Amino acid sequence: MAYAAFRSIGAYVPSKILTNEDLATMVDTSDEWITKRTGIKERHIAGENETTSDMGVEAAKLAIERSGIDSSEIDMVICATISPDYFCMPSTATIISTKLGLGNVTAFDISAACTGFVYILSIAKAFIESGMKKNILIIGAEKLSAITDYSDRGTCILFGDGAGAAVISATDNKDEAIIDVHTGADGSYADLLMTPNGGTGSPHDSLDQEAGACFMQMKGNETFKVAVRTLTKDVVEILADNNLDGTDINHFVPHQANYRIIKAVGDALKLTQKQVIVTVEKYGNTSGASIPMAINDIYEDGSLKEGELMLLDAFGGGLTWGSALVPFSPKK
Ligand code: COA
Repeated sequence: MAYAAFRSIGAYVPSKILTNEDLATMVDTSDEWITKRTGIKERHIAGENETTSDMGVEAAKLAIERSGIDSSEIDMVICATISPDYFCMPSTATIISTKLGLGNVTAFDISAACTGFVYILSIAKAFIESGMKKNILIIGAEKLSAITDYSDRGTCILFGDGAGAAVISATDNKDEAIIDVHTGADGSYADLLMTPNGGTGSPHDSLDQEAGACFMQMKGNETFKVAVRTLTKDVVEILADNNLDGTDINHFVPHQANYRIIKAVGDALKLTQKQVIVTVEKYGNTSGASIPMAINDIYEDGSLKEGELMLLDAFGGGLTWGSALVPFSPKK
């Protein structure tokens, strides 16, 4: 049986920065309020003509370069995004694949909001373990600024843009293998976080509204409570299922939505500050891109070492959730 190894990571962050002070000139808020309630100080915003696929391509180039394989060996591309280049079709993954010159490989998007990266990790693992694919490029890429209502202070303070990518490859060595991935969903909470307009579920006249057709709406306070509960339950279960505990984890990499959520989950697991990876202060919530962007940060600052165990944990619109136990296994 083949195992799936997490070989490499890459990320891309657009250069334009939107600070809390900038937002305070746009809506009734303050740096103090945003920092205290979310931990976010700034977020990056893509250029007007910069697309989700443009950012995904830059992240993917780095991940492929660092994977030790040739791009011609990539046999599948999966992109997790809720802000695709085009709603419906073509998929952002096909655009990224073509921009990278990967040939006619299988390419598709999935929609699992902020849990997207954990979902595509589970798909890549399954395809590799089944023997159907050998080297899969997975990408979380978001231009959330395009679906954010900058007159709504309850949401516009939270979100940012960016992309992260990883190469998952087949290996015979069980020590290199992704240990486990859990995913789940509950549509009965759909109304907590959604883009209510612009699809077949919305009133037809809303399809005619150009501006705001696809803006995110969120019941922040309720979402917060479900997030803490779900994220904690998720990691407790995946650790128990694999006879591990918090002391076995080198890096806890949660979805970066709100520092208070991350702290509550880290405290529940009795993790040290050093174990818990926090990037939300500089990127905000970048949905499907947030976990790979955070992994890239610890890779680039030298703190992620070969063989170290990462615990990923995500939660998002749908609702969806997921966790994963992933050793960092660069190609030898
Ligand atoms: N600046 C200043 N005041 C604000 C504000 C802002 N940006 N946004 C909301 N407020 C106000 C509200 O209007 C409310 O005022 P009121 O008491 O006069 O009615 C007050 O602050 C408290 O609002 P509430 O929504 O209860 O605040 P909160 O502590 O829950 O913080 C969030 C709001 C959005 C930061 C928080 O709920 C959150 O992070 N939720 C989860 C978000 C999330 O993770 N989403 C993605 C999941 S992947």
